[in-house]
Amino acid sequence: MRSAADEIAALVAAQGALRFDEYMRIALYGVNGFYVTGGSAGRRGDFITSPEVGPLFGAVLARFIVAEWERLDRPGDFTVVEVGAGPGTLARGISAALAPTSLSPRYVAVEVSAAQRRLHPAGIESCADLPGGPITGVVFANELLDNLPFRLLVFDGGWREAYIEVRDQRLVEVLHGCDQLPSWLPPSAPHGARVPWQEEASAWVRSARSALVAGSLLVFDYATARTAGCAPTAGTSAAATT
Ligand SMILES: C[S@@+](CC[C@H](N)C(=O)[O-])C[C@H]1O[C@@H](n2cnc3c(N)ncnc32)[C@H](O)[C@@H]1O
Repeated sequence: MRSAADEIAALVAAQGALRFDEYMRIALYGVNGFYVTGGSAGRRGDFITSPEVGPLFGAVLARFIVAEWERLDRPGDFTVVEVGAGPGTLARGISAALAPTSLSPRYVAVEVSAAQRRLHPAGIESCADLPGGPITGVVFANELLDNLPFRLLVFDGGWREAYIEVRDQRLVEVLHGCDQLPSWLPPSAPHGARVPWQEEASAWVRSARSALVAGSLLVFDYATARTAGCAPTAGTSAAATT
């Protein structure tokens, strides 16, 4: 069976170095990608997230959801949209915590991986794309944004951009110049500093906000407050510079 690495190597052979975000897209979401072939959160999965630790995270979120519903004067069309829902553990936790309350919302679990959608619990809607709206309710995502493909900038005497090439039959990172650097990037940084350029995450936040007519967007990730805040941190770059 072809692996994501085989697929990336074939693409590099056909069209040259792949920009880091394209490499990440194939590695995670290509036909042989990590999430598409069943990579998932969970104690028996590949990594652990807050909902997988126990029911408390879902219980806290359920309280927030009820508070939002009450703040909006208990609308009848209240919808909860969970994006990047993984195997549905958080959906189960939130549904259990909402059961004794008087709120019984429409619950939409958005997950790109069909393998993970198959694990979603009964009684919720399961789909691959963010519903277009208008949505009255709460849209939330736990550990989604840093899983959206991003460009990667590396300080190597100046800012350069990471690409993936094949050398000696191995995928390696190489650095190329970047024509248009983002304006928020500091002019200098410690050698090897690495900064994600999360254009796709920004676009996702904009589309989620525009789908919401009333309610809140809530996203959880573990990072610096601003992307430029990553720059003072020296990385351990082993990239070749071209
Ligand atoms: C790090 S996992 C987090 C899973 C779950 N939220 C949790 O906390 O355990 C990220 C999930 O987001 C999904 N994902 C990535 N991009 C997505 C997108 N654009 N729309 C919906 N799901 C996406 C991935 O397939 C993966 O299941």
